[in-house]
Amino acid sequence: MNTADLMTYLKNTNLEKILKDYPIAGDFLANFRLEAISKVLPLPQALEEVGEETLAEFGLDSYGLLQEFCIFLENFTRVEESTGRVSSLTILGGFNKLKEPENVELTIAAGEVISVVGPTGSGKSRLLSDIECLAQRDTPTARQILINGIAPDDLQRFEMGGKLVAQLSQNMNFVMDLTVREFLEMHAKSRLARNTAEIVEKCFLSANELSGEKFTIDTKLTQLSGGQSRALMIADTANMSNSPVILIDEIENAGIDRRQAIEILAKSEKIVFISTHDPLLALRADKRIVMKNGGISKVIRTSDVERKSLAAIEKIDNTLQAIRNRLRSGEIITEELLK
Ligand SMILES: Nc1ncnc2c1ncn2[C@@H]1O[C@H](COP(=O)(O)OP(=O)(O)O)[C@@H](O)[C@H]1O
Ligand SMILES: [Mg+2]
Repeated sequence: MNTADLMTYLKNTNLEKILKDYPIAGDFLANFRLEAISKVLPLPQALEEVGEETLAEFGLDSYGLLQEFCIFLENFTRVEESTGRVSSLTILGGFNKLKEPENVELTIAAGEVISVVGPTGSGKSRLLSDIECLAQRDTPTARQILINGIAPDDLQRFEMGGKLVAQLSQNMNFVMDLTVREFLEMHAKSRLARNTAEIVEKCFLSANELSGEKFTIDTKLTQLSGGQSRALMIADTANMSNSPVILIDEIENAGIDRRQAIEILAKSEKIVFISTHDPLLALRADKRIVMKNGGISKVIRTSDVERKSLAAIEKIDNTLQAIRNRLRSGEIITEELLK
């Protein structure tokens, strides 16, 4: 809806319906202490019953409030429109480091998890960066990224920048002197979440589930370990990010429960790219992109046989993990462990 249409809608629609269409409108009314306003009328008529003095307190008359309401909902819908409707992402191949063409056209639908595998130096991080900046044949790889089948123009690239893609990278630094709670609350509010307290709680709980070492909600961000901050970012991204695309660069050594992380993300109906050396993560994805010499050399769909083998691989992985833990704590390895 453009501004004029939105204004017409606000003037002619009763508040009950508006609140149904935009539950966030409740927050707006609460900000102006108008929770109790009659909901059976459109805002201008409902305001007549309230009286100008309530609004005068905020330095507004009823027309001013209507305008504020319009701006508020416009901003909200803009965030949702520019980020919420990515149904597909397409990678058009460029060239590898040997200048050989990639010959790839890969379209990924919302809800798919794609892993990116390949040796160190093969171009995994570069591929994720191309997606993050919505490359338009203007990066060293000359790849092009399409959103919903269309090449975003410069303005869209700029507007989507930072909103389209949530990048969980190898290096994460929190510079702000906030507690976990303050950080989550700030995010929930800036993303116009409808039920801040509930979302903050949910994020905190799932971050703690993901993290090997537990932390409290009043811990300072700067005191979190690498694993804890990554767990927090994953929980935050899965639970309240508007970004329809999530990029995760090698989380294996991050001290978090990797399998749970991918499950939380897979449920979020986003497009998830995860670069990894971990077979369990690679095979949990719907497809995997195989990188070689800086180029996409293959795209493999996870087969049923591979999926079925996950349980067996997990068993091997658990055995290895147990051995690692034993060695670390100075214990002896017995044959029992290998059964
Ligand atoms: N297609 C390409 N053309 C030119 N340089 C590339 C290409 N792909 C990757 N690179 C460069 O090669 C180096 C290693 O790639 P990187 O993405 O860091 O590998 P990985 O994450 O798999 O270890 C980086 O400097 C990257 O910019
Ligand atoms: Mg890398």
